[in-house]
Amino acid sequence: MERNESGAPPFLFGRRIVLGVTGGVAAYKAAELVRRLVKAGAQVDVVLTPGGAHFVTPTTFQALSGRPVWCDPWDERRANAMAHIDLTRGADLLLVAPCTADAMARFAQGQADDLLATLALARACPMAVAPAMNRQMWLHPATQRNRERLVADGVLVWGPAEGEQACGETGPGRMIEPEEIVARLEAFFAPKWFSGHAVLVTAGPTYEPLDPVRVLTNLSSGKMGYALAQAFAQAGAAVTLVSGPVSLPTPLGVTRVDVTTAEQMRAAVLERVPGHRIFASVAAVADYRPARVSPQKIKKGAERLTLELVRNPDILAEVAALPEPPWCIGFAAESENLDEYAERKRREKGLQLVVGNLVQEAMGRDENTVVLYDENGRIPLPTADKVQVAWGIVRHVAQRLGLIDTAVERGDL
Ligand code: PMT
Repeated sequence: MERNESGAPPFLFGRRIVLGVTGGVAAYKAAELVRRLVKAGAQVDVVLTPGGAHFVTPTTFQALSGRPVWCDPWDERRANAMAHIDLTRGADLLLVAPCTADAMARFAQGQADDLLATLALARACPMAVAPAMNRQMWLHPATQRNRERLVADGVLVWGPAEGEQACGETGPGRMIEPEEIVARLEAFFAPKWFSGHAVLVTAGPTYEPLDPVRVLTNLSSGKMGYALAQAFAQAGAAVTLVSGPVSLPTPLGVTRVDVTTAEQMRAAVLERVPGHRIFASVAAVADYRPARVSPQKIKKGAERLTLELVRNPDILAEVAALPEPPWCIGFAAESENLDEYAERKRREKGLQLVVGNLVQEAMGRDENTVVLYDENGRIPLPTADKVQVAWGIVRHVAQRLGLIDTAVERGDL
């Protein structure tokens, strides 16, 4: 898979995005949005409304996008005086962020009284808006009518978020953050191979308690499992993520279930697995837990303390042995002999795919080097950011399940 500077999968690479910036305080965040989009390889043409230009100057956007900025429908830089049509011609998306209540109203009514409104009317590409306004303006029935109208017209409405507002009030109306807008754009442009499929993923470590303040655990950060959950979700799957204790944000569009111990993870997985096409077991589940959990803190005393451990259930093996098992992806975290141990796990647990990695290259890190093992042999993936590695796995699974139309992908159709 092609890489780009941001480390993200290349779904924004080479995309042509027309970004409308309207007159709200959140216009300053549009500058950061342009920076992120350009870094991800997109070409961004900024269209400023007169209100937007009150908050941020065209020079800022020109410097960040490296392209001319457009404000006036009569702009003479377009030789044919057709800026209102030309700019979105061949564009992949018209995005309006921030989108004020007034802009929403004008888009909903199909007005054409400035360059951005005219572009919205004359476009052939999809359109998304990220509303930003005072909470009462957002909750006003007129704005809600406009929102419904826009959704009915096929416009994607992203946000708003809840929180503190520039006016000092708190509630719904804040523009979603540039980071979230970029994540939504990546999801929008990602191939939807898993549309209509449900995927269950586990991630992170488990905590096996010894007493009220101590646990046995491992160094899994959850990054690999979260990246895989995100990639499946971006590829159109309905994803449920059963997560051990980690400090990561929930990927966009993913349903997260938090658990602590291996037994809780087992219960959460077995309850949810029916109806899932795929189960990806990325969690570093503790193989053993203390035989007894002390109800009180264990006090310091003798020079030696012996812990008795008992085996935890093997969740993946149990799922793979169900009468109607999902397509099972296991992970093998080894410190040596990766090929031998990973392949053995695949055969012994009856898995469709094992993703092997060396713990010293994988645990807690942002990058990973993995080898895929299936009935056809071993396929090493290039060392990459875990997001990229996750997409490599998702693509392989989609190919194995016959979900990728290779002719369409090559552009033959
Ligand atoms: O979280 P990160 O910091 O990003 O690190 C990623 C990772 C190294 C944790 C991940 O890539 C990985 O390899 N996960 C599997 C870790 C593991 O427990 O491997 P294992 O070889 O011990 O287990 C084999 C498989 O059985 C795994 O799919 C595991 O989820 C599953 N298992 C193991 C024990 C158990 N009791 N129940 C299980 O379901």
